[in-house]
Amino acid sequence: MYKIFNTVDEVSRYTAQRLLDKVRAMPAAVLGLATGSTMEPVYAQLINAMQLAPLDTAQLTTFNLDEYIGLSAEHPQSYHYYMCKNLFNLLQIPAHNIHLPNGLNSNIESACQAYSKAIQAKGGLDLQLLGIGSNGHIGFNEPHTCFNSRTHVVELSEQTRIDNARFFTDKSEMPTHAITMGIQDILEAKEIILVATGPNKSEIMAQLFDSPIDEALPASALKQHPNLTIVLDREAAALLPQSALQSAV
Ligand code: GLP
Repeated sequence: MYKIFNTVDEVSRYTAQRLLDKVRAMPAAVLGLATGSTMEPVYAQLINAMQLAPLDTAQLTTFNLDEYIGLSAEHPQSYHYYMCKNLFNLLQIPAHNIHLPNGLNSNIESACQAYSKAIQAKGGLDLQLLGIGSNGHIGFNEPHTCFNSRTHVVELSEQTRIDNARFFTDKSEMPTHAITMGIQDILEAKEIILVATGPNKSEIMAQLFDSPIDEALPASALKQHPNLTIVLDREAAALLPQSALQSAV
C-alpha cells in the first residue's frame, strides 16, 4: 500500500503516528528501527507527540537494522550515536531492551548469529521501519544479497559509500563494511513501513514500483510482504506512474 503526502513534515507525522499507535496498542512491542536522514524528522515528530501525550515505553524492545564496522558507539557517525541523539536519550526505554549491532565486536560472525536469534527469541519484530538507499538497499543489504539472509557483514557498495560519505567531515573515515540485519529477518517482521522522501529517491522508487521480486533490487523483497506500507512525499513519488498515485491514499 502506498501513502503519498505533499511534504516531508506530513510523511514524518504519519509515520510517527503509526509507531505511536503500535506502542499504544502493544506496550511490549518489538520495534525494528532505522537510521538515515529520512528518519530524523520521523523521530523528532515522535518525540514531539510524546511530549503532548506521554506514552509508556518501559516495556518496549528495539532492534536497530545496522551499524558500521569500525566505529565506536561514541563516534558521531555511528548509528549507535545517531540513535542516542535522535531517540534513545529522549525516551525511557530500559537500556537492556535496546539492541544495536556492535561494529567493534571482535567475534563478529557469532555476534551476527546472536543478533538474529535475539530477535527471534523476542517473538520477532512487530513493526520494522525502513529507509531505502539510492541503489535499493534496505538496512545495508546491498544489491544481490540473498533474500534468505540473516544478520551478516557486508562490504558497502561504491554507490553507498558515495551516498553516505556526505555525513563524514573526513571522508577517509567512511567505513568500507557494516553489519546488517538480513533480508529474511526484515521480512519476518509482522508489519513494515518503508519511508522515502526527496528528489534523490524518485528514481529508485520508480524502479521499485516496476521491478519484479529480484535480488538485484533488495527492496523488491518487500513486495511479497503481506503488511507493507510505502510512505512517500511528492518528490520521492514524482516518477511513479499515474496509476500508482491514484490508488495511493
Ligand atoms: C543508510 C542506512 C539505511 C538507510 C539509507 C537511507 O545506508 N543503512 O538503513 O535506509 O542509508 O538513508 P537516508 O535516509 O539518509 O537517505
